[in-house]
Amino acid sequence: MVSAVIIDGTASNGIGKALANEMKLQLINIEAKDLPDGESYVRIPKAISNKIAVIVQSLYPPQNKHIVELLLIIDAVKSLNPNKIVLIIPYLAYARQNKRFMTGEPASIQLLLRLFKCAGAHALITIDPHKPKSLTMFKGKVLAIEPIRLFSDALSAYKGKAVILAPDVGALSKAKALASLMENKFTFLEKDRDKKTGMISLKAGQNFNFEKLPVIIIDDVISTGSTVIQATRFAKSHDASKVIVVASHLIMAGDCYKRMKTAGISKIIGTNTIPNSKALVQDVSKLIAENLKTILDSL
Ligand code: R5P
Repeated sequence: MVSAVIIDGTASNGIGKALANEMKLQLINIEAKDLPDGESYVRIPKAISNKIAVIVQSLYPPQNKHIVELLLIIDAVKSLNPNKIVLIIPYLAYARQNKRFMTGEPASIQLLLRLFKCAGAHALITIDPHKPKSLTMFKGKVLAIEPIRLFSDALSAYKGKAVILAPDVGALSKAKALASLMENKFTFLEKDRDKKTGMISLKAGQNFNFEKLPVIIIDDVISTGSTVIQATRFAKSHDASKVIVVASHLIMAGDCYKRMKTAGISKIIGTNTIPNSKALVQDVSKLIAENLKTILDSL
């Protein structure tokens, strides 16, 4: 079998190192710097010829810089004649702009996936990419991992004793999966977002009373926090005893944390796809390692 090396990108939040440890693979730290004029520079300082190069780069803020750095890393890796290139992108930025919602917009994620392929990537692993179907734009092997098991482990105290709430129909499959693992009931809200202002409104998807039980809201991303804050208001006004929020990717821009606390959210659980010091963070490295083995065997 061809051996693999892990190339730790400029934004791996420790996942590259953890993966290398977990899978007993060589870890290569890249050289990276910002040039005086604002451009990015990277260099791979070790030989990788005939090895499978596994690049780990999460696309958290500043997203645009991390995307350019990833493209540069792929090109630098390709120049060293690896056997194949596998991308591990724990947080795939722009995944929510998966289509042209209004005339004249870009289909951002489709473009990014084409760029990664065009730069030289053969396979891609990511975590909870908003709409997994949009990954088919990447013409290579693709795996999207749902970290639901990590959430159910973190929430074991609530097994059989809480209600899982999807704040919109897009999160319903996650709510069902978490409810099934935790043996809890689930329900959902319907969300409407104004395409121009981004303002959202939520309404009940079905009649439901939370009967003084804790409510666990689950979503893929917390960006401004508006979705989970409005869902929290709904849950509290329908007899939830407390509200816990879980999401794969905690961007939590600006004063999001403060607003979530003010709304009465008692706990926030996420993963380390994005650095976050305010939430309970579950490590996705082992989950990625399990899936990386499958990809490596198939290349
Ligand atoms: C949208 O459909 C996503 O699944 C999230 O619900 C949304 O992106 C969260 O954004 P925000 O935190 O800004 O409401």
